[in-house]
Amino acid sequence: MTTIKGKRILLGLSGGIAAYKAAELTRLLKQAGAEVRVVMTAAACRFITPVTLQALSGKQVHSDLWDASVPSNMAHIELSRGCDAIVIAPASADFLAKLAQGLCDDLLSALCLARECPLLVAPAMNLQMWANPATQRNVKQLHADGVAILGPASGDQACGEVGMGRMLEAQELLEEIEAFFQPKLLAGKRVLITAGPTFEPIDTVRGITNTSSGKMGYAVARAARDAGATVTLVSGPTALAAPRGLERVDVSSAQEMYDAVMVRVAKADVFIGVAAVADYRPKKAMRHKLKKGTDEMTLELQPNPDILGTVAARRKAPFCVGFAAETENLEAFAEAKRRRKKVPLLAANLAQHAFGADDNQLILFDDQGRHELPRAPKIELARALVGHIARLLPKK
Ligand code: PMT
Repeated sequence: MTTIKGKRILLGLSGGIAAYKAAELTRLLKQAGAEVRVVMTAAACRFITPVTLQALSGKQVHSDLWDASVPSNMAHIELSRGCDAIVIAPASADFLAKLAQGLCDDLLSALCLARECPLLVAPAMNLQMWANPATQRNVKQLHADGVAILGPASGDQACGEVGMGRMLEAQELLEEIEAFFQPKLLAGKRVLITAGPTFEPIDTVRGITNTSSGKMGYAVARAARDAGATVTLVSGPTALAAPRGLERVDVSSAQEMYDAVMVRVAKADVFIGVAAVADYRPKKAMRHKLKKGTDEMTLELQPNPDILGTVAARRKAPFCVGFAAETENLEAFAEAKRRRKKVPLLAANLAQHAFGADDNQLILFDDQGRHELPRAPKIELARALVGHIARLLPKK
């Protein structure tokens, strides 16, 4: 179940070219199980028609403060009641200024002022408009007023310029909205996570690796961030984009992953080893591409350092969480691994179902026993894992 299933979201559009992204956002919110009602300013209606948003939301779109079709004739009150959140996307410079000043001369700004629910805004404007001290003042004011500011991002702009002010993409906005609704179980905690495979070079173009996609580790990083933690993600080579708002450290080999973790671990409250780290590496990596011959070839391997084991053995170790992927005897091997590595919590999964897949199934082992997390998308399992970690963390 997604975090926003059943939530009532009022999606407000002010005037900006990024209004087209609101169509996709409406679709994604609906797909995630939210109930979406759209309100548009007159300027927004110049960029995208209410008909599009009506078709996607399945509900009448409102834009008129004097809308006689709304019972009680008070659209600004009626529409803002019963919402779980109001999301303004795009939020133009003008609209942010109105919100900061408490102006309310159109339906959307009026219902924002009359709201009883949280307000989230996704700024979208030209880079100079964003950088202007007036806009920055307004954003600071809105932040102080408890409004959540989603983005903006940097990149190509409709005007041809490049810089800060682009509205986040619809998928990113969906994730930010989902994050907003997450309980902040790890607020104030610093979480260090490893993810993905490692790559152990044989020569300049070949190496030993595995089929970890990074999906599970990245989902855990996102779930920890959404739970309010400050997250550092040490990632082996993957094609995934890092979740927003966390530190990502790219590494390739197990030794690099070990070094990156050891530099950062002293500050961590929690360490979660999701990475599929190679246990061995070639003793000698060739500095040239190996030539093909007719003789048999033997590759000499030497063990890699055990990152999780080393972290768990520290005098002031963070709360350590391991993962284990096994092809058979899952439960026995996983519990044995937990005891060998001396970690309080270990998540076991079947390798043949876990590597590369979007869904997974976990059995958590801790001092209390085993806890099954049934098959679900990795982000949902990651959120459940984060909840379990929060319950086990020593209370200060
Ligand atoms: O990336 P995905 O495609 O989403 O797949 C996710 C996953 C299958 C990789 C993940 O869910 C998982 O199970 N990761 C652990 C893989 C594994 O089998 O690890 P292991 O049994 O080799 O190691 C046990 C634990 O020690 C792990 O937490 C591992 O990160 C850690 N370890 C292992 C070796 C080593 N040298 N250093 C370590 O820290």
